[in-house]
Amino acid sequence: MKKSASQDVAPDASGALDALSHEERVFRPLPKVVLGANLSPRGLEAAQDQAARDYLKFWEEAACELDWYGRWDTVLDDSQAPFYKWFTGGKCNIVYNALDRHIASPNKNKLALIWEGEPGDSRKFTYYELYREVNRFANALRSLGVGKGDRVVIYMPPVPETVVAMLATAKIGAAHSLVFAGFSAKSLRNRIHDAKAKMVVTVDGFYRNGRVVNVKSVVDEALIGIRGGCAETVVVVHRAGVDIELTEPRDVRYEDVVRQERSDASTEVMDAEDTLFLLYSSGTTGKPKGMVHTHGGYMVGINRTFRWVFDIKPTDIFYCTADPGWITGHSYVVYAPLIAGTTTVMYEGHPLYPQADRLWDIIARYGVTIFYTAPTLIRMLMRFGPQYPKRHDLSTVRLLGSVGEPINPEAWLWLHKHIGRSECPIMDTWWQTETGMCMISPLPISPIKPGSVGKPLPGVEAAVVDKNGQPVPPGMGGFLVIKKPWPAMVRNLYNSPEGFRETYWDKIPGVYFAGDMARKDEDGFYFIQGRADDVLVIAGHRLGNAELEAALETHKAVNEAAIIGVPDPIKGEAAKAFVVLNDNWRQEFENEDELVKELIKHIRRELGPIAVIKAVEFRDKLPKTRSGKIMRRVLKAEELGQELGDISVLED
Ligand code: WTA
Repeated sequence: MKKSASQDVAPDASGALDALSHEERVFRPLPKVVLGANLSPRGLEAAQDQAARDYLKFWEEAACELDWYGRWDTVLDDSQAPFYKWFTGGKCNIVYNALDRHIASPNKNKLALIWEGEPGDSRKFTYYELYREVNRFANALRSLGVGKGDRVVIYMPPVPETVVAMLATAKIGAAHSLVFAGFSAKSLRNRIHDAKAKMVVTVDGFYRNGRVVNVKSVVDEALIGIRGGCAETVVVVHRAGVDIELTEPRDVRYEDVVRQERSDASTEVMDAEDTLFLLYSSGTTGKPKGMVHTHGGYMVGINRTFRWVFDIKPTDIFYCTADPGWITGHSYVVYAPLIAGTTTVMYEGHPLYPQADRLWDIIARYGVTIFYTAPTLIRMLMRFGPQYPKRHDLSTVRLLGSVGEPINPEAWLWLHKHIGRSECPIMDTWWQTETGMCMISPLPISPIKPGSVGKPLPGVEAAVVDKNGQPVPPGMGGFLVIKKPWPAMVRNLYNSPEGFRETYWDKIPGVYFAGDMARKDEDGFYFIQGRADDVLVIAGHRLGNAELEAALETHKAVNEAAIIGVPDPIKGEAAKAFVVLNDNWRQEFENEDELVKELIKHIRRELGPIAVIKAVEFRDKLPKTRSGKIMRRVLKAEELGQELGDISVLED
């Protein structure tokens, strides 16, 4: 007999966790969830049928759920594959769908954004208010000489003006490129350069963990000696009362430039394939890649997945903890919730400030119904024990989500029991900056296996294959690939079409190579095993080994470095560095411990606080192939006490 979700687990019973890590049990959704779901079991079957029968029609119908200025001629243009194009000839603007159209609907006076600052201040915007604010900044951008086709770098923490800047940029047809405020001046500078950004939007500072983080000074450092044509204007939002230096005429205050602007503004009519944003993400080379996403296909993909995976209803209050600087923030904090006319919640600060119940407090106070977060955050919060969530009324929550890295059974169980009352389904969504939208995920009506990301969503054709592209048998690990293009897919790598081909399309011809290892069980459930390439996922953030190594190697004591990922109880993965030193290092440093500290600080200076090195080990040399490539796999196997595998390619 099948049991309901709540009956299935006795989390406190000893051995339950152990049992769960070999979980074969299936959690079934409660009948009330199934009955109320946007996509019913029958609807799901029909969607899968249609996607199998007429894939293009399936996505065309998804496009018809949105508003367009002009209809497309072709749903999918694959004539220049792998540079696929979607809805070519179609005219649209994602901001028309996210804002403009709501002003003529009952959503006009509904809350679009609830924002809470770390000190406890809060700002709320109805759709109409957000629309007016966006229009004023759109007009300001135009007045400052930014237009269609330009790039605007947004180096901002989670504050309302970040959303305003994104939407205003897209509204006038320019492309935004967000840079997470934890990145260093150097990383920011590289991104501004690569994107040839005409403008940078930033803040004086923001609140994090009870302190004021100075942001504008990082921008100042990043712009020292920057080439002409880049960052001609810097717009500074007032947030934390930091004493900043304004370099005239380059720097202007946000409040000054919007003050004189009108609160209506025309929305640029864009081609479906015009660029909406660039988002830099780590790859296997030392240089971050600028993923190019476009207006048309992206809005279609995120809208459909948002409504189905998160089962959005008009009364929902949706809280995704991602920073808007990452793809999850773009797709599921900003764009998809606004397109769907949902209320989205954003929090500025640290989850442990002032105490470990800050997020639970936010959920209770605003009546959050859907909570979408990352395993690393759950692991951090569960350390403090269930008494923190217990202090708050979390009864409004009806659906949970997870993204960014594999969720371990312990964290899954804790989230399910203490936040989800042992009844809310958990949508463990697999996707990437490249995919733009959720690709493999349970639906609220699906049976769930903890640790599994469920099955490919309708319209997504995934597979687990060997290096020749042949499917591997159920239960076996292999490469995760996507066999057909999808609307929200990355279109190109900015300035690097060859890199685009090589990274994603040439590894296994004819399919998209995701760079993840996965396994699929007998029932078709996918389990993500981790990265196949040299990319680390630390606390849900992607960092390339090569990036970290390159940063280490700029230190004068370092001759050569190799970085590997090692398991970490909170962050999922942590970086360990193996370093070969230059001969002269001893002249500078008294002992090794001091040098270790210095190297860890150095990486932080180079890449910003997200680049955390957990351990440094000094070696006389690194294992290499005959052709001189560092064998990180060997270092990792040694570190974890695993079999070395085939080492015949080693130098000696
Ligand atoms: C990993 C984040 C396991 C994966 C949206 C992927 C996951 C990388 C999951 C993309 C998940 C993402 N389970 N692993 N549910 N979701 N990943 O580009 O390795 O920041 O390739 O996009 O995160 O990270 P990105």
